[in-house]
Amino acid sequence: MADPALPQSARQLLELAARNAIAEEGGGPERRARETKAGKLSARERIDFLLDEGTFEEADKFVTHRATDFGMAAQRVPGDGFITGYGRVNGRVTFVFAQDFTVLGGSLSEANAAKIVKMMDLAMKVGAPVVGLNDSGGARIQEGVVSLAGYTDIFLRNTLASGVVPQISAILGPCAGGAVYSPAITDFTLMTAKTSYMFVTGPDVIKTVTHEDVTMSDLGGAATHNEISGVAHFIAADDRECLALVRELLGFLPSNNLEDPPRRPNTDPRDRADKALDTLIPTESNQPYDIKDVITRVVDEAYFFEIQEAYARNIVIGFARMDGRPVGIVANQPAFLAGVLDINASVKAARFVRFCDAFSIPLIVFEDVPGFMPGVQQEHGGIIRHGAKLLYAFAEATVPKLTVITRKAYGGAYCVMNSKHLRADLNIAWPTAEIAVMGPEGAVNIVYKSELARTVKDAEAMWPQGKPFTEQEKLQILSEARAEKVAEFRERFANPYVAAERGYVDAVIPPSETRRRLNTALDMLATKREKNPPKKHGNIPL
Ligand code: HXC
Repeated sequence: MADPALPQSARQLLELAARNAIAEEGGGPERRARETKAGKLSARERIDFLLDEGTFEEADKFVTHRATDFGMAAQRVPGDGFITGYGRVNGRVTFVFAQDFTVLGGSLSEANAAKIVKMMDLAMKVGAPVVGLNDSGGARIQEGVVSLAGYTDIFLRNTLASGVVPQISAILGPCAGGAVYSPAITDFTLMTAKTSYMFVTGPDVIKTVTHEDVTMSDLGGAATHNEISGVAHFIAADDRECLALVRELLGFLPSNNLEDPPRRPNTDPRDRADKALDTLIPTESNQPYDIKDVITRVVDEAYFFEIQEAYARNIVIGFARMDGRPVGIVANQPAFLAGVLDINASVKAARFVRFCDAFSIPLIVFEDVPGFMPGVQQEHGGIIRHGAKLLYAFAEATVPKLTVITRKAYGGAYCVMNSKHLRADLNIAWPTAEIAVMGPEGAVNIVYKSELARTVKDAEAMWPQGKPFTEQEKLQILSEARAEKVAEFRERFANPYVAAERGYVDAVIPPSETRRRLNTALDMLATKREKNPPKKHGNIPL
C-alpha cells in the first residue's frame, strides 16, 4: 500500500509499478524454477531474445480471465499467462505472442485468445509478420467451449493472414490437441530438440484406442516432426538457438505480400565465375554428387539457409541471396535416392514454392531428377495427387522463375521441375544435361524390346553349326546389343541440345558462368508482371 502522504501522482505511479511487477511474475518463482531446470527461458526472456533490444511494446498486460467455475476466480494472474505485443526484428515491425507455461500451464482461455486475435488483426492492418512462441497445455479445461472458440478465432485469422503476412511458430514446450493446428497453418514451424512436442492425441489416448505404446518424444518430439512427419521445418538445440533461427528466417522475408523481400548490400562479385563447377558433375550419369555443393558455389558468400533439412532429403529447399536479393532454392538431391521425386519430396517443395510465390521471392531450381519414384507404396499413397501439387505450384507461380538443369531431366519430372512450359522465365542447361522421356537404359528396354529378342534368334540362325546358345552366351549377345542401343540413344537424346533446338532451354552454358547468368536474369526480371486469370481461388490437388 503506497504511503498516503505521497502526492497522488506518485501513488498512482507506485500502484502501476506494483501491478506491473505482479504481471511480470507470472505463475511465481517455484513454477519458474521448474521451467529453468528443464532448460527453458521464461516467456518474457524469449520475447527479449527474439526482438531487437528494448523494442518490445506490450499490450493487454492487465487482462484477466473472467471464469469462475472450478475455483478459477482465485486464480487470476494479470495478463492471463500470455504476453502479447510488438517490437522490431532487424529494425522491422514484428508482432509476437508468448505463452507462459507457469500460468495455468500456458493454457488458452477466452481472454488470452482475444489478446492474440487483437495482435493478429493489427498485424494484418499494418502488414507485419506474426511470431508465436508456443508453450501450452492447450485449451483451458476449466473454461470449456469458450476456450475452443478462442482457438478457432485464432485458426480463422491464421488462415486469413496466410499469404498476406509471414507467420512463424516456435514450439518451445507442449503443443497438443487441436492447438497444433495453428502452427500447422502458419508458414514455418521450429521446435526445440528436447523440450517441445506436438501431437493431436497423446500417448495415453493412443494406448487406450490403438493399444500402441509410444513415448511423448517418439510420438511428437522435434526429431519425429523434422525427420518423419515433415510437420516442422527446423530443429534447434534450445530456446536461444530457436529464436536466433526465427530472426534469421525473418531476414529473408518481406513484411507482407505487397512489399519486396529485403535486399542487402552484397560483397560477393555478382559475376563471379567458379571453375570448379565445370568439373563437378561425375562422368558416370548414375554417380551421386551433393547438389548443395552446386548451390553454395552459386549463391552469395556460399551461404544457404536450408529448410526441412532432415525431411525428404531427395529434394533440397531453402533461402539464399543472389547479389543481395533473397531467393528461394528448390533442388533435386542426387546424393539421396538419386534425387527422385516421391510423395514427401513433392509436398515439401510444393508448399515452399507457394510460400515464395505468395511473398514475391524469386525461385531458382537446380534440376537433376531421374523421374517420379516407382512402386506400389507410392502409387497407393497417391503420388499422382501429391506429385501434381508440385506441378500446380510451379505452374501458378508468377514470381521470377529460373531453372538450371545440371544433369538429368527425365519424363514427368522434367515437366514438373519449373520447365519452360510452366512459364519459367529462364531455363539454362549445363553441357552435362540429359533431357529425355527417360534414361537411356529404360528407353532401350522398351523401344527395342522385340528387336533385342530377335538379335539372339538371328545370331543362332547365323551360327554355322546351328546349335542353340547356352544361357550365358545368350546373355552376352543381349548385353552387347543393348549396350550398342544405349550408346545410340544417349548420343541422340541424353544431352541438352534437342531441347535447346526447340527453345525449351534458353541457353546451354559453361557451369562456371551460372552465377552471372542467374544474376543478370534476376536484374532483368525485377520488373516482372504476370497475372493468373481472375478467380476466387484454384483447386490445388490436396
Ligand atoms: C488448465 C492446465 C492445462 C489445461 C496444464 N494445466 N494444462 N490448466 N488447462 N489445458 C496446468 C496444470 O493444472 C498445472 O497447474 C500446470 O498447468 C502445469 O501442468 P503439469 O501437468 O503439472 O505440467 P507437466 O507435468 O509438465 O505436464 C504438461 C502437460 C499436462 C503434459 C501439458 O499438463 C497436460 O497433459 N495438460 C493437459 C493437456 C490437454 O489435454 N489439454 C487439452 C488438449 S485439447 P498447477 O496449478 O499445478 O501449476 C485441446 C483442444 C484444443 O487443447 C482444440 C482447439 C480446437
